[in-house]
Amino acid sequence: MSPAVPPSAASPALPQSADGVLKLAAQSMFDLFAQTAMGMLVVNRDHQIVWISEGYKRFLPALGVHSEADFVGRRVEEVIPNTLLNQVIETGRPIMVDLLTNKAGTFLVSRLPLRDDAGQVIGAVGLVLMDHPESTMQPLMVKFSRLQRELEDAQRQLAAQRRPKYTIASFIGASPAALEVKRQARRVAGTDSTVLLLGDTGTGKELLAHAIHAASARAARAFVTVNIAAVPETLLEAEFFGVAPGAYTGADRKGREGKFKLADHGTLFLDEIGDMPLPLQAKLLRVLQEQEVEPLGSNRVERVDVRVIAATSRDLVGMVGQGLFRADLYYRLHVLPIRLPRLADRLADLEPLADALLDDIARRSGLPHKSLTSDAMELLAQHGWPGNIRELRNVLEQAALMTDDLVLAARHLALQPSGVASAPAPAEVAAEAQTIRPLPQAVAELELRAIRDALVATGGNKVAAAKLLGISRATLYEKLGAADTGAP
Ligand SMILES: Nc1ncnc2c1ncn2[C@@H]1O[C@H](COP(=O)(O)OP(=O)(O)OP(=O)(O)O)[C@@H](O)[C@H]1O
Ligand SMILES: [Mg+2]
Repeated sequence: MSPAVPPSAASPALPQSADGVLKLAAQSMFDLFAQTAMGMLVVNRDHQIVWISEGYKRFLPALGVHSEADFVGRRVEEVIPNTLLNQVIETGRPIMVDLLTNKAGTFLVSRLPLRDDAGQVIGAVGLVLMDHPESTMQPLMVKFSRLQRELEDAQRQLAAQRRPKYTIASFIGASPAALEVKRQARRVAGTDSTVLLLGDTGTGKELLAHAIHAASARAARAFVTVNIAAVPETLLEAEFFGVAPGAYTGADRKGREGKFKLADHGTLFLDEIGDMPLPLQAKLLRVLQEQEVEPLGSNRVERVDVRVIAATSRDLVGMVGQGLFRADLYYRLHVLPIRLPRLADRLADLEPLADALLDDIARRSGLPHKSLTSDAMELLAQHGWPGNIRELRNVLEQAALMTDDLVLAARHLALQPSGVASAPAPAEVAAEAQTIRPLPQAVAELELRAIRDALVATGGNKVAAAKLLGISRATLYEKLGAADTGAP
């Protein structure tokens, strides 16, 4: 039903009764509103009130009017402060929902123009839908403001997660090698070029990538990481470039944004770039050159504005020589290389590093800050550190969790013989043969390592660690006691 079109004129073919039904509908709706609304009034073209509903009478005293006779016949703007019914008559436009506040209170109101068959405005009808909406609508308002608050919280959390974890100052070290790294990091942070971070495992490449982003003009935008070694080869392309809606059936039907798109205007960190499969290397090169991505299953390219930081501990030059890494991609990435020094090459930083790491360990575990005795420092300085700062962190973390002492001595430090600290490369297997030792000793060491892992996993909670290990708490304490007094 469309009351805007006079039914008799628009549908001459309609039987006479249809016109009658419409008139009846209009009448009964009018009656229904008059009964169910808190109040209703009709005003003529001259703004004079011509009729009020029974319900409306309750508002008269608050408007300073004593009887219906004193109200009907008056101009609406004279008796209802702040009314907009006069405006509805002049413009012919309804005001479906509004809050009206005057000396009688605050009301939820609706105002509709009335027209004759020719479409001329002949007056207006005003409805009071609700009084005291501030209390009646309170549950709605409360719900609205709660949702609003939750949305703001979520947005803040998201922003905090995207905020870089580290700054250049978090790269600890004052040795010439460390200072040089920081100088280079500051310099590349000021540019938009691709950065390549090279260095052995655990030298701080990921930390530095965060720090460069934080010091760059893109700091307020996203920092997105792809660990290429951790993503199955078959999924990498979709991970990078995204999937167009409808490209696949099933879970991906809706499509998915790629990491390049997610990093738009921000920084994309390509960790373990040396593990990039050859076929994808060509596609990556194209994106780096064109700054355009094509989601899988779409034939549209999307422009992106992404600064790339890549990192690897692998020998990219050697890989290029063996045909495992594309030379053109290598040169494209190698615009601004930063080589991170091995810990063994900056042992002057050992003490400040250990101090900063112990600080961080205390903060994360909730345990008190622990320090190192001088014999512990000496022992650390003699170690080869094949696992670099990550290895140092692990050693300190395990020692801090193993004992309640506030000072860590040499005997608390479980240093692995250099050469087998991380997963042994084939060349290192021979070295491992030299570390064969009597079975009881090997078993004891293995036990100790399992206990340390369990303690690390449970944040130092011995009861939980015993449970994880499937031994009693007493047995754990017994073994820990042996470790605490045993020789290093
Ligand atoms: N200069 C530094 N100052 C403080 N902490 C550092 C520093 N370098 C590294 N670390 C810490 O050492 C650990 C290893 O660092 P990170 O993960 O950045 O190394 P990586 O070079 O990415 O290693 P990998 O090649 O094995 O991935 C982290 O816990 C990091 O916070
Ligand atoms: Mg890393």
